[in-house]
Amino acid sequence: MARIAVIGAGLMGHGIAQVFALAGHDVTIYDSDAANLDSVKARILANLRDLGDDQAAVERVRPTAGLAATVCDADYVVEAVLEDLSLKRKLFIEIEQHVRPHTILASNTSVIPITKIMEPLRDRTRALGTHWWNPPYLVPLVEVIGTQWTSLPAIEDTIALHKAAGKMPVHVKKDVPGFVGNRLQHALWREAIALVEDGICDAETVDTVIKASFGRRLAVLGPLENADLVGTDLTLAIHRTVLPAIEQRPGPSPYLEALVAERKLGFKSGEGFRKWTAEQQAALRAKVTQHLKRARASDA
Ligand SMILES: NC(=O)c1ccc[n+]([C@@H]2O[C@H](COP(=O)([O-])OP(=O)(O)OC[C@H]3O[C@@H](n4cnc5c(N)ncnc54)[C@H](O)[C@@H]3O)[C@@H](O)[C@H]2O)c1
Repeated sequence: MARIAVIGAGLMGHGIAQVFALAGHDVTIYDSDAANLDSVKARILANLRDLGDDQAAVERVRPTAGLAATVCDADYVVEAVLEDLSLKRKLFIEIEQHVRPHTILASNTSVIPITKIMEPLRDRTRALGTHWWNPPYLVPLVEVIGTQWTSLPAIEDTIALHKAAGKMPVHVKKDVPGFVGNRLQHALWREAIALVEDGICDAETVDTVIKASFGRRLAVLGPLENADLVGTDLTLAIHRTVLPAIEQRPGPSPYLEALVAERKLGFKSGEGFRKWTAEQQAALRAKVTQHLKRARASDA
C-alpha cells in the first residue's frame, strides 16, 4: 500500500482522500483553512455511510497540520487547492523541498496545463496531472497527463495506482489546456450557448434535446464509436453541411459575458441561463447524485 498525501481538503480533495483510503492506503491530508481540515473526516464518513462503503476507511485518513509533515513520508502527492496557477506553482516548489526522491507529484487542475504548474521544479520527471471528476468517489474517470518531462514509469505507476483504487485512468499524451474531457465538454457548451444566443431555441430546450437524445446514449456510446456505427462516410457528409454553420468563435460568448456582468451567476444567484428556486436546485443536485450512484452500482 502506498502512502498518499492530499493537499486541499475541499470538494475534490476530501473525495480523492476518501477513494484512496477506501482502497486501503494511508492518507495524510492538509488544508490551509483549519475549519476545512477539522471537518474532513466527518465529510468523508458521511459519504461512506451514504454510499454503503466501509466506514472504517475513514480511520486511514490523517488530517495533518503543515505541508511538510503531510508530504514528507508520502509515496504520492496529489494537489487539489484552488484553480490558481501561481498558488499551485508556489505549493509544488515548497512540496518538492520536503518529499522523498521518488515521490510522484500530481496536480488535479481542471484546465491549467501541467507544464505551467510544474515548470519551476528541480525534478520534473516525476510531476504530472491527474484530473478527477466531481464527485471523485462516484465518477470513474481520471485523466493522467504527462508533460514533455514526465517519465514513463511515473505515468505507469500513477495509472496502476488509480486502477487499483477502482478508478478508470486514461493517459493524455499531450499537455493541452482542458486535457481531453473539458475540451470535449466545453466544445459542446460553446455550441449550446450559441444556439440560445442566436435565438434558435431557449436554454431549457438545449438541455432537453441533449438529455432526451444523444445524451441517453453517451454513457455507452462515445462519439467516435457512434461515427463508426453510422459510418465515417455519413459522418463526413454531415460535417460538410453542419461544421461551417456551428459556432467557431475562439473566445467566450458575449451572451455568457453579459450574464456574468448582470450577476446572473446560476444557482448561486438564483438565475443564470434559467431561473432556479432553492427547491429546483436541490432537486437537480439530488437527481444527478442518484443517477451517478445507480451508474456506480451497475458498474460493480
Ligand atoms: N469542483 C470540480 O468539479 C472540480 C473537478 C475537477 C478538478 N477540479 C480542480 O480541483 C481543484 C480543487 O477544486 P475544489 O472544487 O475542490 O475547490 P474547493 O474550493 O472546494 O477546495 C479547495 C481547497 O483548497 C484549500 N486551499 C487553498 N489554498 C491552500 C493552500 N495554500 N494550501 C492548502 N490548501 C489550500 C482551500 O481552503 C479549500 O479547502 C481545482 O484546481 C479545481 O479546478 C475541480
